[in-house]
Amino acid sequence: MKNTKSRVFSGIQPTSEMHFGNYFGAVKNWIELQEKYECIYSVVDYHAMTMPYIPTELQSNTMNMVIDLMACGVDPEKSILFIQSLVPEHVELCWILSCYCSYGELQRMTQFKDKSESDKMLEKGNIVSSGLFTYPILQAADILLYRAESVPVGKDQEQHLELSRNIANRFNSRHEIYFTEPKALFTEVPKLLSLADPSKKMSKSLGDQHVVRLFEPEASIRKKVKSAVTDVGPKTDTLSPGVANLFELLKACGKMAEHGELMNDYNAGTLKYSALKEYVANGLVELSKQFIDRKAELTGSSRDIEAQVHDMSEKARVIAKETIREVRDLVGLPKRRD
Ligand code: AMP
Ligand code: TRP
Repeated sequence: MKNTKSRVFSGIQPTSEMHFGNYFGAVKNWIELQEKYECIYSVVDYHAMTMPYIPTELQSNTMNMVIDLMACGVDPEKSILFIQSLVPEHVELCWILSCYCSYGELQRMTQFKDKSESDKMLEKGNIVSSGLFTYPILQAADILLYRAESVPVGKDQEQHLELSRNIANRFNSRHEIYFTEPKALFTEVPKLLSLADPSKKMSKSLGDQHVVRLFEPEASIRKKVKSAVTDVGPKTDTLSPGVANLFELLKACGKMAEHGELMNDYNAGTLKYSALKEYVANGLVELSKQFIDRKAELTGSSRDIEAQVHDMSEKARVIAKETIREVRDLVGLPKRRD
C-alpha cells in the first residue's frame, strides 16, 4: 500500500558531538514528528567535507552521530535514518539543481559568508572551497530528492530552506510541477545561544566552552552552566539575552513549574541567578543521564547498528533512484538501463 503520510526530511552534519543547540533546536522535533509523519533523517557526511577535516575522523564521527541520534530517540522501526554518501543520487541531483540556482543567490547566503571568513580558513593550507559555496544546493537536493514537505531545523537554516523553495519553484516553472516546496519546522527554541557569549548562537565552531554537549560529564555541564554570562552592562527592564537564554533552557528541559516560580522572582526583583543556574544545570544533567544510559546500551551493539544503517540507506536509495529517473527524463538526459 502506498504511504500517504506527509513526508519529513532533515539532516545533521557529523562534524562534532551533538550539543543541546542541535537537540532543542531540531532533533527534539525529529523525534516527536516520527509519531505522525513518514520521516527520513540523514547524517550528511558529504556536507561535512566542505570545511577542513580529517578523513579517518569523518568516518568514525558519522557512525557516532548515527548512534547519538538513536540514543536521542530516532527509531529505525518508525523512520529511515541513513548516511548521505551511501546514496550517491544526492550528488547527481545536486549537479542538476546547480543549473537551476544562480551565482547571485549563493552569494547572498550568510552561512557561506560566516564560514568562509572564520578563523579556521586563516590556518595554513586551508581554502574556501567551491563545495562550501555550493553547499546549499546539496542541501536542496537532499530535501527535494525525497520530495519532503517539512524540514525540522534550527533558525539558522531558514535562508537555506528559502533557497530550496526557490530552486524547486524554478524547476517546476521550467518543466512541470514536480518538486514539493519544502517548509521549515521550528521548535520552541529555534536558536539557543552560547552560555559563554549570549550574543552568539551555541555552536561548536566557537570552541568547546560555547556548547553543552549531550553526552558531557555531569561536572563539566554544571561548571559551564555556573559560569554562564548573565548580565553585562547596566541593568535594564527587559531580560538580558543570557538570562533569557537560561529561562528558555529551563522551559526546554520541561521544568515549567520552576520556570514559572523563577519568573515570578525575576518580576519581583528577588531572582538569584545562582538559583536559576542550579535549576538549569539539574534539568540538563537529568536529560543527559538518559541519553548517556541509552547510548551505553546501543554502543554494545554497534556492529548491528552499522548493518541497520546500511539497510536503511538502501531503502532511502530506492526512493532517490525513482526521483532521479523522473528528473533525468524531465531535464532531457537519457534513460539508464538499470
Ligand atoms: P549542524 O550541526 O550544523 O548540522 O546542525 C544540525 C541542526 O541543529 C540544524 O537543524 C541546525 O539548525 C540546528 N542547530 C544548530 N545549532 C543550533 C542552535 N544553537 N540553536 C538551535 N538550533 C541549532
Ligand atoms: N545545513 C544543515 C546544517 O548545517 C544540515 C543539512 C544538510 C540539512 N542537508 C540538510 C538540514 C537537509 C535539513 C535538510 O544544520
